[in-house]
Amino acid sequence: MSKMYIVGIGPGSKEYLTEIAVKTIKLADIVIGSKRAIDLLEIGTQKIRLDAKNMEDIIKQSVMMVKEGKTVVLLSTGDPGFSGLLKPVMNLSPDVDIEVIPGISSVQLCAAKLRIPWDDADIVTMHGKGISEEIIDIIDNGKPTIVIPNFKPSELAHFLIGKGIDETKKVAICENLSYEDEKVVKMTLKDILSKDFSYMCVMVIH
Ligand SMILES: C[S@@+](CC[C@H](N)C(=O)[O-])C[C@H]1O[C@@H](n2cnc3c(N)ncnc32)[C@H](O)[C@@H]1O
Repeated sequence: MSKMYIVGIGPGSKEYLTEIAVKTIKLADIVIGSKRAIDLLEIGTQKIRLDAKNMEDIIKQSVMMVKEGKTVVLLSTGDPGFSGLLKPVMNLSPDVDIEVIPGISSVQLCAAKLRIPWDDADIVTMHGKGISEEIIDIIDNGKPTIVIPNFKPSELAHFLIGKGIDETKKVAICENLSYEDEKVVKMTLKDILSKDFSYMCVMVIH
């Protein structure tokens, strides 16, 4: 029976692709994903590029393809359930048969790099949503806050300092995790103000 699979492909390096992800991708009539996701894999079947601008249209098209009897695989970087494709797909196509294949999230890899047991951390995503005031309620609760920022760590640092958060608070930035140019840097909130990072980073505020 035709189905839509949403497959987590991990943080970016092939080493973090799971066997079940690879096996599921091989079942597809059509594979849909961002440039970063598609470039990671050797895909012998039809491919469709997804980006922030065409996401809604492509998801709707993929639902039509499933209804026409095709097996569609949507690639989601990291894990589909954390700031990934699961939410938009569920919102736009609640009536198709969907199976989720989990992937290793950038948040998990960040926690591993910094040796943070993540059941002791607060995890927040601002990706695509903008800075949320809710972070103020948890930032000083003694637990590390792991944040997917809304693109720029410096904007979040600026916001937090503006709200009276201690500018000497420790921050770690995990950038381009699992890639050859991966970097983990530790500094203070104030130091972040004048620094540029790639859009691919996870921030931990202690
Ligand atoms: C749309 S969200 C996807 C998150 C993904 N579903 C996950 O579980 O990692 C994209 C954001 O995740 C973070 N991210 C994804 N991959 C990353 C990586 N390899 N290294 C650092 N941050 C990453 C970045 O903040 C990026 O802007």
